[in-house]
Amino acid sequence: MKQRDRKKMAVITLGCQMNRHDSERIAGALEYDVTEKREDADFLLINTCTVRDKAEQKFFSLLGRLRPLKANNRNLVIGVAGCVAQDRGEDIIRREPMVDLVIGTRAMDRTPEMLERFYETGEPQVDTSDSSTHDEYPMKRESEISAWVSIMQGCDNRCSYCIVPDTRGRETSRPAESILGEIRALARDGYKEVTLLGQNVNSYGAGLWPRMDFARLLRQVSGVDGLERIRFVTSHPKDLTDDLINAMGELPNVAPALHLPMQSGSDRVLDMMRRGYTVDHYFDRMEKLRAKVADIAITSDIIVGFPGETEEDFEATAAAIHRARFDNIFLFKFSPRRGTPAAELGGRVDPVVLGARFDRIMRIQKKITAEKHEAWVGREVDIIVEGPSKKNQAVYTGRTAHNLLVHFQSHIDYTGKTIRVRIKQAGNYSLRGIHC
Ligand code: SAH
Ligand code: SF4
Ligand code: F3S
Repeated sequence: MKQRDRKKMAVITLGCQMNRHDSERIAGALEYDVTEKREDADFLLINTCTVRDKAEQKFFSLLGRLRPLKANNRNLVIGVAGCVAQDRGEDIIRREPMVDLVIGTRAMDRTPEMLERFYETGEPQVDTSDSSTHDEYPMKRESEISAWVSIMQGCDNRCSYCIVPDTRGRETSRPAESILGEIRALARDGYKEVTLLGQNVNSYGAGLWPRMDFARLLRQVSGVDGLERIRFVTSHPKDLTDDLINAMGELPNVAPALHLPMQSGSDRVLDMMRRGYTVDHYFDRMEKLRAKVADIAITSDIIVGFPGETEEDFEATAAAIHRARFDNIFLFKFSPRRGTPAAELGGRVDPVVLGARFDRIMRIQKKITAEKHEAWVGREVDIIVEGPSKKNQAVYTGRTAHNLLVHFQSHIDYTGKTIRVRIKQAGNYSLRGIHC
């Protein structure tokens, strides 16, 4: 197609890294140019999240705000993908007739056909079918430095609060050769960093033949020439093997950073959450990680106010946060999700108590994070430079292997390069450094 004939698409991505990857995949399936300007777009893709009620509300209020865009451009096609699309299906169109396509989480690769059918018939298209997706697909990536690589789909765990197994379906692992092929091509194209993605990467390989597991995959990925950093999310404490911990310690290009959601510091709550481990087990994994992986940064997810969480349970979580000294956490208030067992449980925590619990954990962690950031001051670290900061073109942003953001002043554009900086100052969310 000639350049000037090509249609344009704009993308809005809500939710987790998986959605960011999927937006790039849907863009890759289409022969459209991606534009930042929504008002120029022929197709607007919104990739949605429903992990908590707030995330779903955010999407519906966004749709409300987009109404004038559609009113000003009758030819604009609006497509909704991701977890709200999968969960709500055609309800979305009933509620918001301005939506033209509902693209379920296993229908991404069929977006071109859905668009074509929409243009032919003018009828809204909905595809939330469970048919399996492909292992090979083109991607139109946002970054030229760091790439998301999907290693599995879905989740077979049944954490009692979580809607993800419903929205993402059964767990299926992508064959290792397919993953390695994608990563070799990325390294050849000059990418410096890959992040392997799955809801529970530690159970990677189930059902694959020849036999595979995540530690083996990581060793193979680490052997690809030219990659500086390998990251992966998300790990589940119950499936984090010694073999994987050893691999993280041995492989120099695997980043010394791990996101390992604890969720609660009370065994009783963990049991009600159906997490499949105890607090002791969690700390056993954590100690082993710290012993084997020098200087590892460990981050976590915590939910407060799970139904039936008593004062004593909460105190156990507060104590666990003190003890764990996470580099950082994502803290959430329990949110009941449609169709999940926890949504049916009694013993909801009073909102005022819930607010106080949330604030207390936040305060504890903020202090720990500040202390951890402060400990970097005076040290020299390598960062991969991501580009100039949005606010100030003379300030560049890079990321350390530990996943910390570092801002530094520069008149030379080091985007995509690895440089060494000395940390001068620590803030709550980032560090300031100078180029050595
Ligand atoms: N597969 C990943 C991510 C799941 S969603 C994992 O297992 O860690 C990310 C985080 O959202 C979860 O770790 C959990 O802390 C939080 N979360 C999920 N469902 C929730 C709910 N119903 N209410 C509050 N937080 C929730
Ligand atoms: Fe949800 Fe649990 Fe699966 Fe994570 S492991 S996606 S929290 S069910
Ligand atoms: Fe949200 Fe779906 Fe990710 S519910 S957190 S976008 S897997």
